[in-house]
Amino acid sequence: MKLYLDTGNVNEIREAASYGMIDGITTNPSLVSKEGRDFKDLLLEICSLVDGPISAEVVSLEAEAMVQEGRELAKLHKNIVVKVPLIPEGLKATRQMASEGIRVNVTLCFSPTQALLAAKAGAWCVSPFIGRLDDISSDGMELIDQILTIYENYDYSTQVLVASVRHPQHVVEAALLGGHICTIPYSVFQQLVKHPLTDIGLKKFLADWEARKASSK
Ligand code: E4P
Repeated sequence: MKLYLDTGNVNEIREAASYGMIDGITTNPSLVSKEGRDFKDLLLEICSLVDGPISAEVVSLEAEAMVQEGRELAKLHKNIVVKVPLIPEGLKATRQMASEGIRVNVTLCFSPTQALLAAKAGAWCVSPFIGRLDDISSDGMELIDQILTIYENYDYSTQVLVASVRHPQHVVEAALLGGHICTIPYSVFQQLVKHPLTDIGLKKFLADWEARKASSK
């Protein structure tokens, strides 16, 4: 499973990328706004830190304007993937950009029918928001399962990018279901490696090692 970081913060990206296992980055208008920086400068810096797909979202609401915005973003760097909301105009824009060879991440997906349409429009990937579904007592992971089955049934090449991840268990479930990509906040990335038994075990190993050295003196 490809692992992306869901952030616009370059310090977080730099630190996570130093592990050598971050395959791409997703941003959205809220994450970018938090950084208080010029959008294009920020995207170029992110592209210099991670050599993988970098999602950048359009903010227009009409297909033609989305396509214009998307073309500009895609021109910035070969790794930019244009993110478009899953609304009717977004699907039209996706179809047009896909025909021009621009990779599109169709975002804000909350149902299997939306995901089916995204695939038919030629999306490079679709982003179902599982955490936001869980927040309203729906089962986000069930949606991932349904989309994966539908895409497999008809051999769609659109990848399922599991988004709105809240905790490590979401990552585990995404991987068990065979999600193609999972994008996670930096806080979840930090949690993935942690296990109290690892820390306890290491502490004991090192204490025993020190004791052995002391007794052999
Ligand atoms: C996906 O690309 C989105 O940026 C993101 O996962 C949204 O997550 P949230 O529900 O935590 O805002």
